[in-house]
Parts: sequence; structure tokens; C-alpha cells
Amino acid sequence: MNNDIQTIVYSQDDINQRLNQLANTITEKYRDQFPVIVSVMTGAMVFATDMIKRMNFKLNVDYVDVSSYENGDQSTGQVKLVQDLSHSIKGRPVIIMEDIIDTGYTLQYLTNLLADRGAKSIEICALLDKPARRQVNVEADYVGFTVPDEFIVGYGLDYDGLYRNLPFVGILKRSVYEN
Ligand code: IMP
Ligand code: MG
Repeated sequence: MNNDIQTIVYSQDDINQRLNQLANTITEKYRDQFPVIVSVMTGAMVFATDMIKRMNFKLNVDYVDVSSYENGDQSTGQVKLVQDLSHSIKGRPVIIMEDIIDTGYTLQYLTNLLADRGAKSIEICALLDKPARRQVNVEADYVGFTVPDEFIVGYGLDYDGLYRNLPFVGILKRSVYEN
């Protein structure tokens, strides 16, 4: 598995340090707010799990699963809800946890959906941001790292369902997917 990685971009130590900083900032803001942390499955699972352990205040955890319609390997911008929330978020502050913001379609869809559901406020916390690929105007309130326009795997992010369990963030060798 590790042979498929071209470069490690962020090590386990880099990630741990950055998560401590992000969680401290979020804890300052949310300590009396009782938010719902909404994790976007499956990519954000590892990130969200490590983050909530660092959030030192009362919160609820929920998740959604979404998939985007694709034409070949190009996103069409249409997003579909595969698994809905288990609880109401009406009147609640929400923090959406996402692995990476790429085109922005997924988070645009989700912020609209959660706003329609009556969330009191919505913020986005993304491990990674790939601004070069953005198609719609979506910005995270908290970003771990900004990454170049390469295919990233590890720490929750997959290619074809693989590499999510790598403890670091790396660039996948092009030879793995260009065949
Ligand atoms: P968006 O809707 O284009 O912003 O895409 C968001 C989703 O695409 C993310 O939640 C990821 O699951 C997936 N994605 C985008 N870029 C990458 C990448 O470089 N590696 C792995 N997954 C990615
Ligand atoms: Mg995803």
C-alpha cells in the first residue's frame, strides 16, 4: 500500500499538531453553544473522530453520507444524499466536518440542506482545501491544510475505497490511476 504513495505531504505529527490548534480555536468559540458535529462520511470519519476527542465542551455527533454524480471522472455538480442525519438540528449550531473541499459542490449542497432544516448557524471545518479546483464559492471556517492540485489519499481520504487507513496525508502516484 505505501508503495503507491508518491510523497507524504503531512505526517502524523503534522496532523496532530494542526488538529490541536484547530480544536482549541473551536473550543474557545463553542464552549457554551452545544453544537451538533456533522461528519460527512466516509472520508471525514478519521478526521472527525480525532477532532471530537479534542473538543472540550458538550456536543452531539451525527453524520451524513453524500455522493456526487459523475460523468466519466468529472463531477457534474449534482449531489445526492445517501444517508440522512439521525436527529433534528433545528435551532442548533452545526459544525460540518469534511475531509477535503475540492469543487465545493458537496459543501454547497450540505450547507443549503442544513440551513433548510433550521440550523441556528453552520460552520465548516475541513482537514484539507484544494482551492485550485473550486467551481462554486464555498469557504471553510476552519482548514487544516491547503493542498496542491494533486490526488490526495490517507487519513480518511480514498482512491477507489483504498488508502483511508494510512495515518498520514500523501499524494497518490499517478501510475496508480492513470492506466
Ligand atoms: P467536492 O464536492 O468536489 O468539493 O468534493 C468533495 C469530495 O470529493 C470529498 O469529500 C472527497 O471525498 C472527494 N475528493 C476530492 N478531492 C479528493 C482527493 O484529492 N482525494 C480523495 N478524495 C477527494
Ligand atoms: Mg467525501
